[in-house]
Amino acid sequence: MGIVGAGPAGLVLAHLLHLRGIDSVVLERHTREHIEKRVRAGVLEHGTVELLTAAGLGERLQRERLVHHGLELLFDGEGHRIPLTGLTGRNITVYGQHEVVKDLVAARLATGRPLHFAVSDVTLSGLTDRPTIRFDGETLDCDFVVGCDGFHGVSRPSVPAGALTVYERVYPYAWLGVLAETPPSSEELIYALHERGFALHSMRSPTVTRLYLQVRPDEPLDDWPDARIWDELGTRLARRDPAWSLTDGPILERSVAPMRSFVVDPMRYGRLFLAGDAAHIVPPTGAKGLNLAVADVKVLAEALDSFYATGEARLLDAYSATCLARVWRVQHFSWWMTSMLHRIDDDPFTLQLQLSQLRYTVSSRAAATSLAENYVGLPL
Ligand code: APR
Ligand code: PHB
Repeated sequence: MGIVGAGPAGLVLAHLLHLRGIDSVVLERHTREHIEKRVRAGVLEHGTVELLTAAGLGERLQRERLVHHGLELLFDGEGHRIPLTGLTGRNITVYGQHEVVKDLVAARLATGRPLHFAVSDVTLSGLTDRPTIRFDGETLDCDFVVGCDGFHGVSRPSVPAGALTVYERVYPYAWLGVLAETPPSSEELIYALHERGFALHSMRSPTVTRLYLQVRPDEPLDDWPDARIWDELGTRLARRDPAWSLTDGPILERSVAPMRSFVVDPMRYGRLFLAGDAAHIVPPTGAKGLNLAVADVKVLAEALDSFYATGEARLLDAYSATCLARVWRVQHFSWWMTSMLHRIDDDPFTLQLQLSQLRYTVSSRAAATSLAENYVGLPL
């Protein structure tokens, strides 16, 4: 198996294949340092944690993770708790994606199986017949290639035009994300809709807070000195309760990320399978990207196992449809959360609809349960 990309999709797949005795080579264009430091999302679904733990990848995760049993929706200056565990019996875990990647890289290197960093010029050929990967002047003949190389990778563009149907929506806003060296101001995540736009309070540890602000997609980072970021977060996360305030502190990292929904169908071309961000992107409002990548490779590892054990391609042939059923459920949830919580065009009518939806979500057990079930993740 040739696996392009050492993000969560590529590395989890490589490990699940290793456990089944299936050989793979993983090719990553960045250095190990780069992928282990890159700040990304940080919420793991219940099923993701179970899968990583069952695969022997959960040792540090189990020790260091923050288990959350609820989240808050904040609007009209009041916070409303959604008791995730109370409604679903399952919880979520806060643990940075780059920490997951560190654990996965260590596990891969411990197997002694190949993982090449800083490779350049990866090209794919023979995808319908005998796939070959070329990189750095070397040639790798594979039974199958798995494109786990994210949205900007080489795998999806290697498929001839017209062979995949693309579904896409680009949102008219982006997230300015900051990592701050300050204790979280609340024990749980806070998703806030404010007249001035969306804000999110999250965390990485008892001493590191992760925060996001809705901004314009073309927002220059230079327009956001620390004082303005804290001021805007303070405004959007403010509550009527005078006892609550946002604790500020040194900002360690900042970036602006665009928001899009994107799906290709099928997630396969001949002997190339696409998994994770290479096949689909969700806006970050439901924290689903990593979880969806893990769900894909679980399906793929089981299908490959069945193929090598029996010679039967039935599960491999079902890979795309099996994954896309979950992908579209998650796309809907992420779009719904995004639409409910972001301000568009200062439109007062839309704002009233959003507030109405939020009031319904926090007051109806059925609506809250629907949010909670999707947030903790449908069973893998
Ligand atoms: N050759 C080799 N590696 C590549 C190439 C290439 N041409 N192009 C991209 N890559 C690597 C990237 O450097 C990255 O390390 O593929 C990896 C893809 O990893 P991710 O982008 O993390 O994607 P994925 O593993 O699908 O995980 C999805 O990551 O982007 C977040 O929010 C997303 O949480 C989601 C998760
Ligand atoms: C994060 O902690 O980075 C995070 C949390 C929740 C989201 C997105 C990102 O919806």
